[in-house]
Amino acid sequence: MTAPQFTPRVFSGIKPSGGLTLGNYLGAIKRWSDMQDDGYDSTIYCVVDLHAITVWQDPADLRDATYEVAAGLLASGIDPSRSILFNQSQVPEHAELGWIFNCVARVGWMNRMTQFKEKAGKNAEKQSLGLYAYPSLMAADILLYHATHVPVGEDQKQHVELTRDIAQKFNNDYGVDFFPLTEPVIEGPAMRVMNLRDGTKKMSKSGESDMERINMLDDADTISKKFKKARTDPEPLPETLEGLKDRPEARNLVDIYAALSDTTPEAVITENAGAGWGQFKPALADLAVAKLGPISDEMRRLMDDKAEIERLLRTGSDKAREIASPILRRTYEIVGLVR
Ligand code: TYM
Repeated sequence: MTAPQFTPRVFSGIKPSGGLTLGNYLGAIKRWSDMQDDGYDSTIYCVVDLHAITVWQDPADLRDATYEVAAGLLASGIDPSRSILFNQSQVPEHAELGWIFNCVARVGWMNRMTQFKEKAGKNAEKQSLGLYAYPSLMAADILLYHATHVPVGEDQKQHVELTRDIAQKFNNDYGVDFFPLTEPVIEGPAMRVMNLRDGTKKMSKSGESDMERINMLDDADTISKKFKKARTDPEPLPETLEGLKDRPEARNLVDIYAALSDTTPEAVITENAGAGWGQFKPALADLAVAKLGPISDEMRRLMDDKAEIERLLRTGSDKAREIASPILRRTYEIVGLVR
């Protein structure tokens, strides 16, 4: 069978489980916005509410977080006239293809997923079945659109690799060349933004202390305070990047600076060699406020008009279904389900 040509197409998703962080912005959203200009056939961005409920979400909080995340994507430059922006639960084909993939993926594959192990900890038996099957729904999100490129932060790499395994097994089992082998796109200096209090842990929405993360809705004073109080070592910035080896907190701040100013960590080090933290941290705080301030202002404005966000998500869902529905229909035919 000859391989069909898959049109270059981007898909990515974000959970509405709490507010957005600088990690989400630099590791994903900022690049999603840039990729709209990179000549892809389509760019499809999804607020994955069905993924969020794999752990308990208070319904009112889930609703608020969905508006906030959608507002964050719009305020960061995702343009609904150039991209498809929607929330997952409005396109039921995601859950339907997710079920097919539950029957393709193997239990052994799920057992290897480090995110499940980290989230479940010693309490695996008490987690929802949905949390365990999470990666197969994620594969469905991506493959429902025959997406070829998935821009994500480093922590999602294993899930995108599993998506390739699922596509390959489906194609082999049914003797077809139907699903593409998707590439993760993990590029740039901030693919793993670390916690500001502990440079060995990822910055996340759910970390214990608010001081360890920058939230996209933090005001200028809070951003400045958090960067100034960020943990560092006493050494000044080195002459070369190698000098940041074994200095995770220092490396993190340099990477964040590089990502916010669209340059490389090497260039940041060259410009700031020998600088002490008393000089570098305020410069970083000013840069972050200059870049994030306009986004958070716009987010607040958008969040005041929930009806408009709902309208945009509904329109996006209709557009998403136009692509998803024929792909699901063909999948059902391949599997032998009578329609
Ligand atoms: P989520 O909601 O945890 O995060 C959304 C995106 O932000 C990135 N990210 C980070 N990048 C760098 N440094 C950090 N500290 C950081 N924290 C978060 C994540 O890598 C991600 O790209 N499983 C996904 C959601 C998902 C998805 C998909 C993604 C569902 N279906 C299909 C891509 C394609 C997740 O939990 O992302």
